[in-house]
Amino acid sequence: MKNKFAVFGNPIRQSLSPQIHQQFASQHALTISYERVLSDNTGFTSDINEFFKNGGTGCNITAPFKEPAYEMCAELTEHAKRAQAVNTLYKNDSDQLCGHNTDGGGLLRDLTTNLGLSLKDSHIIVLGAGGATRGILQPLIDQGPARITIINRTLAKAQTLANEFGDVFSIEAVAADSIPTDLPAADLLLNATSASLEAKLPVTNSAIISDNTFCYDLSYASEPTRFLQWTKECGCRHNHDGRGMLVEQAALAFTSWHKLEVSTKTLINNFEDLKAQ
Ligand code: ATR
Repeated sequence: MKNKFAVFGNPIRQSLSPQIHQQFASQHALTISYERVLSDNTGFTSDINEFFKNGGTGCNITAPFKEPAYEMCAELTEHAKRAQAVNTLYKNDSDQLCGHNTDGGGLLRDLTTNLGLSLKDSHIIVLGAGGATRGILQPLIDQGPARITIINRTLAKAQTLANEFGDVFSIEAVAADSIPTDLPAADLLLNATSASLEAKLPVTNSAIISDNTFCYDLSYASEPTRFLQWTKECGCRHNHDGRGMLVEQAALAFTSWHKLEVSTKTLINNFEDLKAQ
């Protein structure tokens, strides 16, 4: 019986993955176990190996282990290769460790299916040039935008990412403290920095947004993040946090393990109830 799952991270207490996966399982009357596992840098590889040795079917990986998990895999999906990070692990028929990344796909499902956004010919501005940005660039490029700009505090990191994707799209790299005055406002502004975790603003230049800019923070919190407070203050009408992305990336992981589709709408609409469980 394929029923043993877990999420590995550090910290891990805050993870809502167990509740989300239990709700998906109940949609199909499946009985699963899904644990939170606190790991650390020295023990991570052996923790994963132990988990599968002890009958684990699949696991999710959260910060800060998505890159170490990627390094461990014998087989990688295209999304994982591009992201150079893995948030979903399972074994193939030859008992090899396989890695997938559902973060970018989850974001795109939330933006396009749930929120009705079309990215064709749009200008997308991504704030941040770390692992979160690397994980979402390919699915964004796949939507056919006209322009993608990465704005980052450290210009060199934005340039490195732009170069990495240079074979598929010409991405512009911009320093957060010297945004060109002729940069057009974004149709979609994504906050993929970790600034929300410290309640900080990654940019303060309101020329990058207009009333119609669709603003999305990959982070989520009970209160609007500092970034979404700012976009609202600037007059943006569309302001969303990353709760939909969280549920959708989990749905894609669930489908990759169980080969079953799940409904996400109720979970996203009642997201606050998840935390109470
Ligand atoms: P993750 O894997 O979550 O993307 P990361 O690789 O550490 O984490 O990247 C964090 C990103 O958030 C980086 O782009 C970082 O900017 P720098 O490259 O200049 O370090 C950005 N970031 C973090 N805190 C920030 C802050 N207070 N203001 C602006 N950008 C911030």
